[in-house]
Amino acid sequence: MIYQIHRYPADLIDVVRLDGGERVVIRPVLPQDEDLTGAFFRNLSGAARYDRFMSPMRDLPPELLRRFTQVDYADHVALMAEIFADGRETVIAEARYVRRPGEASAEFAVSVAEPWQGKGLARLMLGKLVCRAAADGIERIVGETLAGNVRMLSLARKAGFIITASPEVSGLMLLEKALRVPLPGSDCASAGEATLAAA
Ligand SMILES: CC(C)(COP(=O)(O)OP(=O)(O)OC[C@H]1O[C@@H](n2cnc3c(N)ncnc32)[C@H](O)[C@@H]1OP(=O)(O)O)[C@@H](O)C(=O)NCCC(=O)NCCS
Repeated sequence: MIYQIHRYPADLIDVVRLDGGERVVIRPVLPQDEDLTGAFFRNLSGAARYDRFMSPMRDLPPELLRRFTQVDYADHVALMAEIFADGRETVIAEARYVRRPGEASAEFAVSVAEPWQGKGLARLMLGKLVCRAAADGIERIVGETLAGNVRMLSLARKAGFIITASPEVSGLMLLEKALRVPLPGSDCASAGEATLAAA
């Protein structure tokens, strides 16, 4: 069966090879990814899930899972990274941004399964999202992370985000990056691939 999903940004589909040689597919999320996405979050450690959601959450509520997988690819753009092994697909990372209603800014979040961390996946996915957001007219991309989340802080710093302490919530850091409209014809699929080779 051939079907089309309105606005599915197929240009964001990419295949990369990590340093260790593993082949990873990065693609925009699909509505049928609910189970894969649920399994991804369930398999994160409690600490990683806490860093991602800033609350102790084992299973994502069905409503949130639906929201994470049924996106409009305009105000909410979500990417997942997956591998194929033993005839199964497994999600190993997710990253998304959601435009703030009525504003030219969007909030992002990213998480990577522990065995796949430190291989440049978050940097790569964030690079693609930032590129897409800028191309879509978003002027600022923002995020929040706990002050103790050194990995996220380091990633954000290297990706050019300005980091400040929240004036309202102690222990919360605010991440912000002003975006520049990309040059016409520039390609978000290959954005951020400085260290990962295309497969
Ligand atoms: C934060 C997180 C997304 C980083 O993912 P990742 O794929 O490991 O990150 P990358 O491999 O792309 O690394 C990018 C940068 O992060 C930093 N980083 C990665 N691993 C690190 C580590 N073990 N210690 C310190 N910094 C680290 C480095 O600055 C790295 O840049 P470098 O490779 O040039 O040194 C991941 O640790 C994660 O999923 N954490 C749990 C969820 C979370 O905290 N999400 C953020 C809330 S929005």
